[in-house]
Amino acid sequence: MSIIEWIELPDLGDDRGSLMVLESNKNVPFKVKRIYYILDAKPDVPRGFHAHKELVQLAFCIKGSCNMIMDNGIEKQQVRIDKFNVGLMIPPMVWHEMHDFSEDCVMLVLASDYYFENDYIREYKEFKVKKRKRKKKKKRGKKNNVKH
Ligand code: TYD
Repeated sequence: MSIIEWIELPDLGDDRGSLMVLESNKNVPFKVKRIYYILDAKPDVPRGFHAHKELVQLAFCIKGSCNMIMDNGIEKQQVRIDKFNVGLMIPPMVWHEMHDFSEDCVMLVLASDYYFENDYIREYKEFKVKKRKRKKKKKRGKKNNVKH
């Protein structure tokens, strides 16, 4: 399964300009509890470098663009977020890094929960260990579900 999932918003605009709408549990596939935005990021200063244990997020560059590295511990992909109406889903347990911000970049992020530092995994090594543990747990669960 690909780790890249885009959410595309229809442009409801007209000749007066563009208009995009985001609705919890509708075109945003989770209940939004927090919104934050990043601007004036430096092109040569990457951000992120973490994964979340539970949090789900959806990130748009409503202006400008940046590269996002997405890493689920097995597969790593880089995509450019560069359309004001196309957002990238950031699921839990995906290590992500933002690089190469354009100078005009305004990144808007919708999040499924409030800010909890406890939900962050900020060490890549710890992320890999946790991924391995979850995989083992999943495998054990599957084995126990096998009917004899
Ligand atoms: P940080 O996680 O370093 O940002 P990024 O993922 O873009 O690199 O966040 C910077 C600081 O802001 C850090 O001290 C945590 C704080 N913060 C909040 O208090 N609430 C929030 O919703 C977010 C996203 C960050």
